[in-house]
Amino acid sequence: TLSSFGIIGMGVMGKSLAINLAGHGVKLSIYNRHVEGEEEKVAQKAVEENPELKSVKAFDQLADFVESLEQPRKILMMIPAGQIIDQQIARLETFLDKGDVIIDGGNSHYKDSTKRQKYLENEGILYVSMGVSGGEEGARKGPSLMPGGAKEGFDLVQPFLEKIAAKDKQGRPCMHYVGQEGSGHFVKMVHNSIEYAEMQLLAETYNLMRYYLQLSPEAISQEWKKWEKSGSGSFLLKISQNILTFKEDGDFLLDHILDLAAQKGIGGWAVNEAMDFHVPYSPLAEAVMARLISSQKDKRIHLEKVFKKSPFKVPEDPKPILENLKIAYDLVRMINHDVGFELIREAGEQKQWSLDLSEIARTWSSGSIIQSPLMEELVNVFASNSDILTSPKMEPLIKNSRKVLAIVVGEGLMAGMALPVMSSALNYILSMTTADSPANLIQAQRDYFGGHGYQRIGKSREKFFHTQWKAGKKE
Ligand code: 6PG
Repeated sequence: TLSSFGIIGMGVMGKSLAINLAGHGVKLSIYNRHVEGEEEKVAQKAVEENPELKSVKAFDQLADFVESLEQPRKILMMIPAGQIIDQQIARLETFLDKGDVIIDGGNSHYKDSTKRQKYLENEGILYVSMGVSGGEEGARKGPSLMPGGAKEGFDLVQPFLEKIAAKDKQGRPCMHYVGQEGSGHFVKMVHNSIEYAEMQLLAETYNLMRYYLQLSPEAISQEWKKWEKSGSGSFLLKISQNILTFKEDGDFLLDHILDLAAQKGIGGWAVNEAMDFHVPYSPLAEAVMARLISSQKDKRIHLEKVFKKSPFKVPEDPKPILENLKIAYDLVRMINHDVGFELIREAGEQKQWSLDLSEIARTWSSGSIIQSPLMEELVNVFASNSDILTSPKMEPLIKNSRKVLAIVVGEGLMAGMALPVMSSALNYILSMTTADSPANLIQAQRDYFGGHGYQRIGKSREKFFHTQWKAGKKE
């Protein structure tokens, strides 16, 4: 009998999704290219090593794999983003028929996904580009899925995706058709950028607690547990609690991990996109820069020797600072989510993707790396057509906590701790809640040295003025 679904790529994610699908009774074929110079057959090995896959058909020949699938074929690629995808598509399309569906479940750039969909459309092949979040465990037990692209293709694979996706609090699958073109991958890119800033925010919070307040990792973990209980939890906060208390040979493992943060580049893509769509996305930009700075370890070691750290006074009573820190943490998270969703909103409008922010938040409310009670709340915020900052529930919180964030950032910076995401969020909210900014001086400078012109208060914004600054008179 033929299989009803196929997966290409038996890396961690491909294998875990295969286990998930097989566990739901889907008749499955899996394929992994033969790795040159290696004896073993990767797909076969996956079956041997995972009892959950015992009824799955494994292939290392693409033609046989394709042959094993019922038509229209539904094939999910779980292989690294980049040119490998194009190469795989080129090999695959020779065996496919009109009406077959290919899904790219990797972290591809959305512009590539749009191009690939258009190219395959000419061949009659339906291309679905899908964001997948949740890491290995998510993929196995229920990921958050963000499919976009060919709607007809989506309709064919929807029943499979619904089976394997995580379920939200109401039991609905954390999956929805995001929109046309590469919008699924665009939304996944923003997902990851929210993830970047959330991670960096936790790192900054940890830094303050451990090295400014001088709390033990256990105490920090306990404090975070309290935050979680009071509604400020998240998947990332939870795993960070476990990370802090994890010991290896009696030592905290964290203290043995080199502080070089890697990245696959998706955060940087999002910064570029934010620029292209003219969306100020400062917390993300700072989170990406923080990873870059972390990677300059040798330079940091050298410069610390040159510019010795100035001593600071460890606060006697950490309690009031911890209280402030929690308020600041909550506020930065709201801002980080706000800017992320603003980027989605803006891109959706410009590209005419008709994105549904509430559905996107719902898709991220379980299974995803950025799932949290805040995300659940955002489902309602967007459903009622408000935005995060001015929604009835968030607005008073933001009003009351701006000052507290300023206190925390000020105190941390004075103690010599870098707080890039916290301070950029503070700058963002202070700037965004200020009607009159000093950008009039920027405009005057531009006009002074370059004759770029400026608009005047009370006059049409269509009209530009130029001044002969040196002559001291207006033209
Ligand atoms: C997810 C994650 C995942 C991401 C890795 C590493 O939602 O499951 O976002 O897709 O690829 O966590 O990303 P970086 O290497 O860029 O940190």
